Amino acid sequence: MAEKFFVTTALPYANGPFHIGHIMEYIQADIWVRFQRMLGHQVHFVGADDAHGAPIMLKAEAERITPQELVARIAAGRPKYLRGFHIGFDHWHSTDSPENVALSQDIYRRLKAAGLVYSKPVEQFYDPVKGMFLADRYIKGECPNCHSKDQYGDACEVCSSVYAPTDLIEPYSVLTGAKPVLSTSDHLFFRLSDPRCVDFLNAWTGAPGRLQPQVANKAREWLSGKGEQALGDWDISRDAPYFGIPIPDAPGKYFYVWLDAPIGYLASLQSYFASGKAKENGEPRSFEEFLGAPDTRQIHFIGKDIIYFHTLFWPAMLKFAGPPYKVPDNVYVHGFITVSGEKMSKSRGTGISPLRYLDIGMNPEWLRYYIAAKLNANVEDLDFNPDDFIARINSDLIGKYVNIASRAANFITRHFEGALDCGAGTEALRRQAADLAQQVRESYAAREFGRAMREIMAHADRINQDFDARQPWVLAKDPARRSELQEICSRTLYGFKLLSVLLTPVLPEVGGRVARELFGLDRPFRWPDALEPPQRVNSYQHLMTRVDPKQLDALFETAGPVAASGTAATPAAEHAPGRASSGAKPAAAKSGPGSSASGAAGAAAGSATGESTASAVTLSIDEFKRLDLRVARIVAAEHVAGADKLLKLTLDLGTATRTVFAGIKSAYDPAALTGRLTVMVANLAPRKMKFGISEGMVLAASNESGGPYLLSPDSGATPGMRVS
Ligand code: 2FM
Ligand code: ZN
Repeated sequence: MAEKFFVTTALPYANGPFHIGHIMEYIQADIWVRFQRMLGHQVHFVGADDAHGAPIMLKAEAERITPQELVARIAAGRPKYLRGFHIGFDHWHSTDSPENVALSQDIYRRLKAAGLVYSKPVEQFYDPVKGMFLADRYIKGECPNCHSKDQYGDACEVCSSVYAPTDLIEPYSVLTGAKPVLSTSDHLFFRLSDPRCVDFLNAWTGAPGRLQPQVANKAREWLSGKGEQALGDWDISRDAPYFGIPIPDAPGKYFYVWLDAPIGYLASLQSYFASGKAKENGEPRSFEEFLGAPDTRQIHFIGKDIIYFHTLFWPAMLKFAGPPYKVPDNVYVHGFITVSGEKMSKSRGTGISPLRYLDIGMNPEWLRYYIAAKLNANVEDLDFNPDDFIARINSDLIGKYVNIASRAANFITRHFEGALDCGAGTEALRRQAADLAQQVRESYAAREFGRAMREIMAHADRINQDFDARQPWVLAKDPARRSELQEICSRTLYGFKLLSVLLTPVLPEVGGRVARELFGLDRPFRWPDALEPPQRVNSYQHLMTRVDPKQLDALFETAGPVAASGTAATPAAEHAPGRASSGAKPAAAKSGPGSSASGAAGAAAGSATGESTASAVTLSIDEFKRLDLRVARIVAAEHVAGADKLLKLTLDLGTATRTVFAGIKSAYDPAALTGRLTVMVANLAPRKMKFGISEGMVLAASNESGGPYLLSPDSGATPGMRVS
């Protein structure tokens, strides 16, 4: 019987372009969705931008645009990635939408009516200059334990102790540098500790097959915590100024972004139903009817960092809001993606730029296959290793899979005008195909994609061995052995069709072409096609090229203008771990010689010699163009504990944020820098320094008589603009 699925992936914050972690999650969900559809199930697959919260509000403010303008700009960049990697969301929406306002307020009212919301005064740091309560990340000060300076309000990065922001010594606001004052305001809380919630969550998280064992264990640990570890109630309100959804009957209060973010799943589904696309996709009922139906399976794909929200708050909210809201059926959790073993940062996504991957012409299906081959149903990290990537694609997809078709189809078109005949062995082949299809089906259904790929490639090996053993090139020379030639090539092409059907969730483009071009179908493959021996084959058209190692070099080379193209520019400098580039290195703006403008990154700034003449070295215009100079806004400037010359700058590049350690302490008071514009070298390889990683340089002028003087653009320039 056809099942009905409502599938989502975690909603990305609308303050930056997709990074490789997002793309990995979307590819995982997309493979699973395509697989379910091939089985004939109805799937509604939706996403949205997670638009609210203080970081987006502050970023928009720094750019002097409205949060809505910022969100719209980021949203405009999304389709390029989604189309590029064949990620087939049925709909993409935003949490900053009328649907989400109505749904969030409705759910809140129901929770309140159920007695699960209460108000309580909360004492919190307040920035008197900004007129805003400060989340922990916007407060810094001296660690009360080890006395390191410039530690965040919740934990010390040096000694790892955890504390309240009020424990910090000499706290200051990261936003303005002002000394925060303690102030009290009423906050609204969701009573997660209510026995009704706890009982429900114990049952929900413990239901067989609902959660992966590691995830269910984690949830049980949280649910059974005692004392300090006991399940706390959830602070769901934030005071103005805040970019969010107003809380009914609570003037000046907004829902905390994490309350309305998952409701955005439902908002996107509702907007999709309103657009008429659900009907086109086979669902005649209304949004409410579909959502509340007992046979609708609600499935969320998420990363391991947001398990708490999705296995505790979210199901409890839905449960106690009542019908038509329905609790999720499954939450499927994946690990992080690492690149050559290095963890990437969630906000910056260092490692691989998905946009660069596409812009340099790498095949998106290579990445889909590589990710599939390395994914399983556990919450394990997945490592992208460039050499492994080349080896797997070239050996599996090209060597084992694609080559089978080209080898066999040529004999059939040349000698038999495309007619296929597997002879007496057809039934045995059909049984073999059914067995394999069943095995692979179970693997896909269980999200054991790596196992599915291994099963498929093991069969590809068998087909190739069979083909080679029968030596069709010898048979082709002997007219008396014509039927043998037709039989082995037909068996091989039956096998190729089988493999193609089974690979279609991962390789939708190639699968579609094989169905259409090679086997003459007027529709994409469906799962049952795997069993059907093809009757005819058309001449083979080239399906996929090998990976050239130079492409990996280009992918990891510090990104220049290519990555910055389009509306949603990726961070221009990407880290290149694990693979030495064979391409030319970009020209780095090192400090000095010359007195003009030098990079002020790290201690390097101090090396400016102050020579009074311009450098005798000439650059070609192409060399100059390799420098990615950008207007950047200094959103935070801080002293660095233990550093004599450095200030730590947080730079906003429009679509990315960078940290740069600049040797300008002698000339600047950090408080005076916040908010001003400057120019940075954005495609400099990140540099590990004693105090952290410096991700570029700001430009400053100096000579023996003075400086450094930071460069500033004329008024009108905005963060992210290219300087040329
Ligand atoms: O962690 C994140 O990136 C969040 N924006 C995920 C939200 S998922 C859902 F709740 F919307
Ligand atoms: Zn400390």
